[in-house]
Amino acid sequence: MGDTWKLKDKSFEKYLLEEDIQAKVKELASRINIDMAGKKPLFIVVLNGAFIFASDLLKLVTIDCEIAFVKLSSYQGTHSSGVVQQIIGLDLDIKGRSIVVVEDIVDTGLTLVRFLETLREMEPAEVKVAACLLKPEAFGGKFPVDYLCFSIPNKFVVGYGLDYDGLGRNSSDIYQIV
Ligand code: IMP
Repeated sequence: MGDTWKLKDKSFEKYLLEEDIQAKVKELASRINIDMAGKKPLFIVVLNGAFIFASDLLKLVTIDCEIAFVKLSSYQGTHSSGVVQQIIGLDLDIKGRSIVVVEDIVDTGLTLVRFLETLREMEPAEVKVAACLLKPEAFGGKFPVDYLCFSIPNKFVVGYGLDYDGLGRNSSDIYQIV
């Protein structure tokens, strides 16, 4: 990968640079350190895509916290399948806890809408959402995204954990489809 990246039948060009992403991640972590101080939050990382973002973010979170992982999926190729499945579930009691859901990208938001409902049924004290990317056009504000690095146009992106049919997760920069 360089300035352009060919994955299967599609070409991508460099779009968000590592240094800009890292600066935003640092900002988010600072806000979380202030907002969540003394609350011992539980970060719920949504696999697979959020693994790099979560790793960078949580290394900069310096307050006491716990980290758990869930795997949800609603995507096939470059389009949402609309079917949201919880593949690996949450086996912790979250009643009364402060939760931060960590997601790579909120696109239509359908994946998280369902998951957030499930979490709320478990009676946490609060649920916040942290996302690296948001596509406001597709999303239409279905729920608050409390901690966000970038709003982006409605174009498919890869890199920094995000994939196109399994490929393209392994980069520090984010690439946009050409
Ligand atoms: P949503 O349910 O439409 O918000 O989609 C959420 C999930 O779809 C994300 O967690 C990603 O895994 C995937 N996704 C959405 N947009 C993109 C994209 O531009 N590139 C790669 N994956 C995406």
